[in-house]
Amino acid sequence: MSVHDLIKSRRTAKMFTSAPIAEGDLLAWLEAASYAPNHRMNEPWELRVVGPETRARLRHKSDFGGAPVVLAVFSKPGATPFERDENVMAVSCFVQNLLLAAHDAGAGVYWSSLGAQPHNREILGAPQDYDVIGVLGIGYPAEVPVARPRTPIADKLAYLK
Ligand SMILES: Cc1cc2nc3c(=O)[nH]c(=O)nc-3n(C[C@H](O)[C@H](O)[C@H](O)COP(=O)(O)O)c2cc1C
Repeated sequence: MSVHDLIKSRRTAKMFTSAPIAEGDLLAWLEAASYAPNHRMNEPWELRVVGPETRARLRHKSDFGGAPVVLAVFSKPGATPFERDENVMAVSCFVQNLLLAAHDAGAGVYWSSLGAQPHNREILGAPQDYDVIGVLGIGYPAEVPVARPRTPIADKLAYLK
């Protein structure tokens, strides 16, 4: 698939089959994701594979669609608010890379933002000042939702003098 088609055909999966994700595959997708742009090459992502006890404590409404893997993604704090923002941007690029690498292999990801809530930060053991960018359910999708249409990009575009 071309990169163009890969980007456009990726969807947020909400239900997964019970098929496991091979650890080698997960590590390969994460390694590919780490080629995300990041300022000063500070690689601000930190990853936590969420085990069953922690997962149960998160009490996600659908238990991440039954995904075989749940992964929390943290962004390191910065020395200034600007650097913190840059770190969040870089980690978001990391996550998008991960989504695309998984999709390329036929897997899917459920990106949940529940980890940002204070009690869930605590459950995840997020260090103070770290941002929780997402808690990701990763697996093979049981169903792939239809893409919701996007605003024509021309409506988002302006030309500056
Ligand atoms: C930062 C971020 C947080 C998200 N958090 C949630 C969430 O908490 N629950 C959810 O169902 N989807 C969440 N999503 C997924 C979006 O709902 C989804 O990307 C959007 O509906 C577009 O669908 P698509 O990914 O299939 O194109 C999140 C996406 C992003 C980028």
